[in-house]
This record gives sequence, structure tokens and C-alpha cells, in this order.
Amino acid sequence: MRKELIAGNWKMYKTSAEAVSYVEALKTALVERQEPVYLAVPFTAIHPCAEKAQGSHIVIGAQNMNDASEGAFTGEIAATMLKEAGAQFVLLGHSERRHIFKESNAFINRKVHQAIKENLIPFLCVGETKADREEGRAEEVVALQLKESLKGVTETQTESLVIAYEPVWAIGNGKPATAQEAQEMHAFVRKIAEEIWSTSTAEKLTLVYGGSVNPENAATMMQQPDIDGLLVGGASLSVETFTKIINYR
Ligand code: PGA
Repeated sequence: MRKELIAGNWKMYKTSAEAVSYVEALKTALVERQEPVYLAVPFTAIHPCAEKAQGSHIVIGAQNMNDASEGAFTGEIAATMLKEAGAQFVLLGHSERRHIFKESNAFINRKVHQAIKENLIPFLCVGETKADREEGRAEEVVALQLKESLKGVTETQTESLVIAYEPVWAIGNGKPATAQEAQEMHAFVRKIAEEIWSTSTAEKLTLVYGGSVNPENAATMMQQPDIDGLLVGGASLSVETFTKIINYR
């Protein structure tokens, strides 16, 4: 049985003060919960949020990092710095990184290796654009992103790997994929994982869906056989809405 995984991605929202009061409120809202809930917060909020989250099941992570250990890379941040601040996971290859900041699969692949090396759980994000889908290239694009971004990752290393399927056309616009579309692509991601590694590794992989997840569609998404969790952007910014998603059952 794969574990359920629910994560929030705040993007460039919330100052440290706002972040800390959010974590405090979420902690109270989830006091009964035994499973972890993941929150990818802005760099400046990692440390205060990680401190505030102590003694709870809230796991704090980052939204990006550089592939190098250190160096003259103005404005970048290293895995060790994130770890020390209290991050336990990192989103890599989010579509906003790929499209706005032109990150390539090769760069993302180096980041995946660096995260694994530094014991940060990599949440690799993949997903096709609207044009890719309309032109019938959705599977091809996702397969290439997976193969190139996960190059050299061993079967053992997949134990701490999360893959998020986030169709670009469904992100941040209130127009989620249908549960069927999401399920089909998750099944396809598992098929590619089988090609890269093996059937047993593919079956164990944690695959989450992201793209306009809200309290109304969370349950239907979670009912799909190949969807193990959710990566929630906009709807994770409010404790009340995010709690509804977490308690989708
Ligand atoms: P959204 O964002 O839920 O606002 O669509 C998801 C994401 O970008 O991770």
C-alpha cells in the first residue's frame, strides 16, 4: 500500500510573519492527524516555519534550489542551506521554473541528484503545456521530462522520490484536469517508471496530482488508483481551504 501525500506549494506568497501564523493555525487544525502534511514555503519562511512546526506532522520544504554545493551563483541557494534552515524536501522542475526561468531537464536532473545526496526529498514536477496536449504530444513530453530529469537515479534512491504530475494548462486557473485525464497520465508515469526501473519500483512510487486542486475535486482525484496525493498551489494559501483538502474524506 502506498502512502497518501498531501502538499501545499505557496509559491511567492507570505512573509515570514504570515507564514508562522499560518503554521500555528494549521497545527491546531490538524491536531488529530497522524500523517505528514508537506508545505513548500518561500526560502525566508523555512526556518521560522520549521521551528513552529516542531511537534506536529507538518513537514517544511523549499520550492527550488541550485544543483551546486556552493559557489559564485548570485541569488541561488544550496541544498545544505535549505537543510540547515529546516527543509526536509524540495520541489524541483516546477512548471513555473521550467517555463518562466527556462530550466532544462538536464539542470533539473543535476538538482535531483544533489537533493538526494543531501538527504532532501525531491518532489520532481512534470507536465505538458496546453499546446503539447492539443497537438497530441502530452505523453511524449512527460516521458522525456521523466527520463531526462531522473537519469542516473537508482531504484534504491526512488524510495525517497515523489513525482508530481502537474499539467501546465491546469495550474493556477481554476480549471483542473478531469479525474480521468489525471488518472490516465499517472498510469502513464507509472509505465515510464517501469521502463526506467522495474514493475515493483513503479508500483511503490508516490505520484501526486497538481493543478487547480480544491476542496471540491480533492476526493475524486484521490479515488483514482494511480493518484497517491495532491500538490496544492492557490488553495493551500488559506488554512481553512487547505484543511478541507487534507480532510477530503
Ligand atoms: P494551483 O498550483 O493549485 O494553484 O493550480 C499548483 C502548483 O503550481 O503546484
